[in-house]
Amino acid sequence: MSGNRTFTMIKPDGVEANNIGNILQMISDAGFTIKAMKLKTLTTEQAKKFYEVHAERPFYMELVEYMTSGPIVAAILEKDNAVADFRTLIGATDPSEAEAGTIRAKYAESKAKNAVHGSDSDENAAIEGAFHFSDEEIVG
Ligand code: CMP
Repeated sequence: MSGNRTFTMIKPDGVEANNIGNILQMISDAGFTIKAMKLKTLTTEQAKKFYEVHAERPFYMELVEYMTSGPIVAAILEKDNAVADFRTLIGATDPSEAEAGTIRAKYAESKAKNAVHGSDSDENAAIEGAFHFSDEEIVG
């Protein structure tokens, strides 16, 4: 995956609150193109592996339990400067600190239930995209 792509998930709280459409609209309006997308429920093994970098954090098991508590929407997004621009669009991890008009300011409930994931680097965008999608599931 090249540097103009990022990886996102609409997390279980975003799906549960019927915000898939609202969040995808904001993503499209911000100029991102969807290159791959699926609705799925993560297994415990998948969630543990996806969040492996947080394994030593006190909230790790809470995070794994939450991320397996209902379906998520995984997607690969394309745009110039995708990783940084997407993080601007979603806002800070803690919705109380997220700028007005960001996805998390609008739709996140809390630091744990924060509506969306966005990759933090081009390297992780490639790793996370490949974690969820095979090459043939990504449109050219
Ligand atoms: P994200 O940045 O997408 O990936 C790591 C996730 O860990 C983060 O979103 C939050 O959902 C979660 N997280 C971060 N800090 C906390 C916390 N203090 N308590 C619970 N979950 C957290």
